[in-house]
Amino acid sequence: MASSSSSTPIHGNYHGYYIKRPFANDPRVAVLPASIFEGARVLDVGCNEGWVTCEIAQSKGAKKVVGVDIDDKLVRLAWKRRRHVWTLQDPFTSGKHQEEHETQPVRKRRKVDGDNGEAEASKPSLQADYFPASFEHMFSPLPIPPVDYPDGPGRTEFPHNLTFRAADWVNNEILEDKEGYDAVLAFSISKWIHLNGEDEGLMRFFRRVHSVLRVGGTFVLEPQEWESYHKARRMNPKLKSLEHLKLRPDDFERILRDIGFGPPEHLGKIGEGGFKRPIDVYTKLN
Ligand SMILES: C[S@@+](CC[C@H](N)C(=O)[O-])C[C@H]1O[C@@H](n2cnc3c(N)ncnc32)[C@H](O)[C@@H]1O
Repeated sequence: MASSSSSTPIHGNYHGYYIKRPFANDPRVAVLPASIFEGARVLDVGCNEGWVTCEIAQSKGAKKVVGVDIDDKLVRLAWKRRRHVWTLQDPFTSGKHQEEHETQPVRKRRKVDGDNGEAEASKPSLQADYFPASFEHMFSPLPIPPVDYPDGPGRTEFPHNLTFRAADWVNNEILEDKEGYDAVLAFSISKWIHLNGEDEGLMRFFRRVHSVLRVGGTFVLEPQEWESYHKARRMNPKLKSLEHLKLRPDDFERILRDIGFGPPEHLGKIGEGGFKRPIDVYTKLN
């Protein structure tokens, strides 16, 4: 595993990444069909400080979400993020409260584009920012009730549905892999795996994703473009030279097909500025 004290982020293990990428609702997640997450077991490889992972666990109906990162310091921050998100959350959004809450006068929620108002009257909302963030600084974050706490969130609800692991996932299994996943996310990580593990490491990663997914499961890949490899190498002289790499991001579709995935659905280039990258969705065929 990467030394968390290493000042050169040779694995793309940037600290403060989500300050540069300040999306409360990540557009890469927003563009994905909701069915990928509903009732699903989801693995987020290279979860960094866990912002995207928390968003999926909190608001996408996933029954289990696992974030894994090679940098143990980032994983500690991801656990902190989980508690922070829990602290700000509307106390009535937990599933066990839901039915009870439906019979109560519905709390007003902000209108969202495309919302016809009917949904507003019939559904309790998930207010992810119910408390001002300053409360946490003044009073410390809220404790998370144990999983068997009466009327608390259940095992498959946020935050109990969310776990983080520190591991080099390309080369090591984690406990949750045994049960497999319905979806694996690889946002902005393929370049780092490729640069560090070369073609062989990248192939191992793709085969590992295939092996932990159930048939019909989804692999969401946001590959970085080849041009950006040069910049990464310039900024991280510790990385091996690019001349050993034969594979290119344009080859990924063919490689994944050979491994057992169907043709990808290209959801377009999502994001802003240097973060505008393709989001490709693959289905495991066999
Ligand atoms: C550029 S960041 C992207 C973070 C996040 N996926 C996103 O796009 O919002 C890449 C992350 O992948 C992690 N990473 C790189 N190689 C890894 C590996 N072999 N196993 C687990 N995590 C890895 C890095 O530590 C870093 O946090």
